[in-house]
Amino acid sequence: MKVLITGGAGFIGSHVVRLFVNKYPNYTIVNLDKLTYAGNLANLKDIENKPNYTFVKGDIVDADFINKLFQEHQFNAVIHLAAESHVDRSITNPLEFVYTNVIGTVNLLNAAKTLYKADPSKFTKFYHVSTDEVYGSLGDTGMFTETTAYDPHSPYSASKASSDHFVRAYHDTYKLPCVISNCSNNYGPYHFPEKLIPLCINNIKNNKPLPIYGKGENVRDWLFVEDHARAIDVIFHNAALGSTYNIGGHNEWTNIDVIRLLCDMMDDKLGRPKGTNQQLITFVTDRAGHDLRYAIDSTKLQKDLGWKPSLQFEEGLSKTVDWYLQNEEWLTNVTSGEYANYYEKQYQN
Ligand code: NAD
Ligand code: DAU
Repeated sequence: MKVLITGGAGFIGSHVVRLFVNKYPNYTIVNLDKLTYAGNLANLKDIENKPNYTFVKGDIVDADFINKLFQEHQFNAVIHLAAESHVDRSITNPLEFVYTNVIGTVNLLNAAKTLYKADPSKFTKFYHVSTDEVYGSLGDTGMFTETTAYDPHSPYSASKASSDHFVRAYHDTYKLPCVISNCSNNYGPYHFPEKLIPLCINNIKNNKPLPIYGKGENVRDWLFVEDHARAIDVIFHNAALGSTYNIGGHNEWTNIDVIRLLCDMMDDKLGRPKGTNQQLITFVTDRAGHDLRYAIDSTKLQKDLGWKPSLQFEEGLSKTVDWYLQNEEWLTNVTSGEYANYYEKQYQN
């Protein structure tokens, strides 16, 4: 089994690559990544020399390159995670999200279709990793199920919704063997520090302000990244073709409560008097089009395929903070250069 994993140098992709390389020594895993600001081969240091692992640098927007890669490797399956993933960047530069998330996905579907048509017994699965943000925003009650209508609000979620539609269209039109999952907010090691939790861990460490959009009342459903990777493994191997699974932690928190918990936890871990870090909380201008609440109903995944989250949030957050405090070099590297400038500018807004 030769599996192409796209975006494997990113946050979630690196956990999926690590899990598959270690758990399935008889699979050949090819990691294709453009290495944008969010892609970092340091995320995969521990497995880079494994005999069943290969890295290829390349852009999914380049159709010729993608077609040649598929012909050369004759992949049996694809797990597609490569994407522009940050909502704030999508507000500043929507086109980049259309290129990678929409056109890049269609390029991969076309290349997969060619292999599938040539020999349907050899190309067996196109697994598209998507997000709960395609479902839009919830009020105070209710949860997203697999049948919730799509209602994206940000350029990011609109681009992911579009890519999901293309995947379904290729399944229905060309019988391409496809599966989709839509997951809630992930957190954990190797999370790029532009996203809420790692940004605030880094800022607390450096005694910098913690920018909370609006009043901090928006709700997200947090899942430890290794639990997402395990869900992807279970779905990849067991889901019916053409099916969709929601993945989530049943773990809803307002942003302000997450950050207060983080502040208190890091007071303890850094030996600061209780209450010190909460003084860093700074309310800033809200994100445009900010979705109020996400909550995933993952009953189908739990019942059909027996998956469930393994960690309580407090435990996962504590593991995550420890990882960032122990991996200062990784944090310094990813917060230097171009990214640092971007993030200073964002905060000044
Ligand atoms: P990330 O931004 O950390 O990583 C994305 C990876 O894709 C990077 O390694 C980057 O270099 C690569 N990439 C970007 N453009 C590319 C291109 N044109 N060609 C090849 N590679 C390219 O993202 P993430 O948080 O790990 O998310 C991975 C996937 O999971 C995305 O599809 C995202 O929509 C989805 N998702 C993320 C979350 C979350 O909470 N982070 C939740 C649900 C779903
Ligand atoms: O729900 C899944 C999605 O979760 C993924 O599809 C996206 O790729 C991923 O980036 C994430 O999107 P969010 O926008 O929810 O994540 P982010 O970490 O950017 O923000 C989480 C919440 O915190 C959100 O309500 C906005 C808020 N926020 C974020 C930042 C960066 C702040 O209040 N301050 C900040 O500085």
